[in-house]
Amino acid sequence: MSKVKNPSLAPAGKLKIEWCEEHMPVLMSIRERYSKEKPLEGLTIGACLHITKETAVLLKTLKEGGAKVYAAGSNPLSTQDDVAAALAEEGIEIFAWRGVTNNEYYECIDEVIDGEPDIVMDDGGDLTTRIHTKRKEKLPKVIGGTEETTTGVIRFRAMEKDGALEHPVIAVNDSYTKYLFDNRYGTGQSSIDGLLRATSVMIAGKTFVVAGYGWCSRGVAMRAKGMGANVIVTEVNPVRALEAVMDGYRVMPMADAIKLADIVITATGDKDIIRKEHIEKIKNGCILANTGHFDNEIDVKAIETLAKDKKEMRPNTVEYTLADGRKIYVLAEGRLVNLAAAEGHPPEVMDMSFANQAFAAEYIKDHAANLEKKVYKLPEEYDNEIATIKLRSMGVSIDELTSEQKAYLSTWKEGT
Ligand code: ADE
Repeated sequence: MSKVKNPSLAPAGKLKIEWCEEHMPVLMSIRERYSKEKPLEGLTIGACLHITKETAVLLKTLKEGGAKVYAAGSNPLSTQDDVAAALAEEGIEIFAWRGVTNNEYYECIDEVIDGEPDIVMDDGGDLTTRIHTKRKEKLPKVIGGTEETTTGVIRFRAMEKDGALEHPVIAVNDSYTKYLFDNRYGTGQSSIDGLLRATSVMIAGKTFVVAGYGWCSRGVAMRAKGMGANVIVTEVNPVRALEAVMDGYRVMPMADAIKLADIVITATGDKDIIRKEHIEKIKNGCILANTGHFDNEIDVKAIETLAKDKKEMRPNTVEYTLADGRKIYVLAEGRLVNLAAAEGHPPEVMDMSFANQAFAAEYIKDHAANLEKKVYKLPEEYDNEIATIKLRSMGVSIDELTSEQKAYLSTWKEGT
């Protein structure tokens, strides 16, 4: 039996899902095939994903493919309650509501594990690590897993290295049609969306610090620059820092950037990016937000101890007054601002990410017997198929190699 906040929200959720279906042509083409071929018949899929309207399109597609689907949210603040209610009506076993406590978060994941999944579909790795640690009795049935995000893939590679991984995992994040689009353009747009919905501040003319210059953070930097901000990037990787410099950004350590920042968005995937020592130097009025997977990039606890006053100014915006009177603003408790204060990435980009998820589930079903307990990428032919359908849906056509060009590319004899 599903557990959601309010089943009567289902009609609003259904409309959102319908809207999304219109904007996710790749996934919908997979659904059409699934409705005829039922490739996932007999499988139970347990998912721990952000419960959004886009995820709903994926879960309905997996069900159309014949799978029994159980799902929990992958972040305490990202569940869209109307969508969860609609999914419960659609026959998905769903355990998610916005604002779960830490205990409830894991209770929901345990409900998914109780469903006895054959395939686990993760975003951040919490479902898989739960089965590997507290629910080991359910491990033998799992034939494989998929992982949506950079942070989760890093965790699984660490598990593989430790010899702790007990089944193969497909790193969906590492498909070109995932990270080049979702991480960059998705995070770029949705993080700015969250910032604006929470604060409604002007971006033009602001000093905007982006922590990190991976695929997600460079998306945020690019969009902030496009809206007229003066963007500073902080990095620890010299190659990435150099890229940021040559892309036209100022690059400096956070200790210097924090004194100049009007807005900071962290997107590094590591912890302790904004620490007590940074808060001590922070500019009055600075807005702090995180768009990395976990809420450990900004040390909100340190802010709580340094602050003499705390006030909720607007939904998702808390004002802290420091001892010397400086005010700072923390968005969405330091959790994923794009999902907690907005609706996450737009459907057009999740279309490709979730097409990869559906293909990954099928891939595991067909190849599990030959896969080791390792992290794999989907073969590149899936990227090509997804990009081809996406381009077609956008009305974009491209050239094809002539046979002479193909032959030229496979010879080393032609030169100057
Ligand atoms: N991650 C980022 N945006 C998302 C969305 N809209 N749905 C599910 N997961 C997401």
